[in-house]
Amino acid sequence: MPVTDRAFLFGDGIYEVVFGRDGRFAFWELHMQRLARSAAEVELKVPLDSGQWLAVAERLWADAGCETGSLYLEVSRGVAPREHSFPERAEPTVVAFVKELKVATEGDGEAALAVLLPDQRWLRCDIKSVNLLPNVLARQAAKRQGGREAILVRDGLLTEGAATNLFLVRQGELWTHPLDQHILPGVTRHVVLEEARRLGIPIRLEAYPADELALVDEVFVTGTTSHVLAIGEILGHWRRSGPDPITARLRQAYLGRLEAETMGAPHSAQSAG
Ligand SMILES: Cc1ncc(COP(=O)(O)O)c(C=O)c1O
Repeated sequence: MPVTDRAFLFGDGIYEVVFGRDGRFAFWELHMQRLARSAAEVELKVPLDSGQWLAVAERLWADAGCETGSLYLEVSRGVAPREHSFPERAEPTVVAFVKELKVATEGDGEAALAVLLPDQRWLRCDIKSVNLLPNVLARQAAKRQGGREAILVRDGLLTEGAATNLFLVRQGELWTHPLDQHILPGVTRHVVLEEARRLGIPIRLEAYPADELALVDEVFVTGTTSHVLAIGEILGHWRRSGPDPITARLRQAYLGRLEAETMGAPHSAQSAG
């Protein structure tokens, strides 16, 4: 990629990460819808439609020869002389690659350590932009303290993880931040909420106050590559004191959906047949 690509110079691009298994991609349409939304919000033209992305994805997957992995897609505003405002003639740059994943998709799952950190991101966290420096710094700070994820706090309220959405269970109710400019509309979050509704688990779409963490029974985070990950401890703030039945149910339900999404022949073979 030329050094004058705007993704490199300004972080002027958007992306998606999709879970794949054996050439099948989970929740494909939801990812395509979010990509289109992110692009529209930053006035970026996406040169490929859903079918064209899928053709690229399937070819990359076959070439990589991997079983379970993630597909990364990015569109930048393209190559142009460095000037903040949009270039007049640049063509968008498209990048796609496949990465093998070792993340467990079966069993009970581990309980991870998380670290509470201030949310230093911009106020359009709903756009899946490649501008991830605050997320990178938060993850690194968590890692230095032995944590797997950083849980971010803005104005005393828990927003989400550095690369995951956050869920808390308190007295049988499932809390997660409502969809607004403070969080990414996670595809995994969306599916987990569908499953919670199906299972009759009461949902509260409200930001949870950080200073009420002591009253929480279960915490988990969700994401395309981490699925439903139970949190066992938030360093210095909260520690799980018992079983986590709601996390376990939702994890099983989500993995079931993932299984169903990635079973059978590749999408294109299905639509052709
Ligand atoms: C900030 C942030 N929140 C949440 C998520 C989870 O989104 P999804 O479930 O679509 O992977 C991600 C994924 O990368 C993220 O970067």
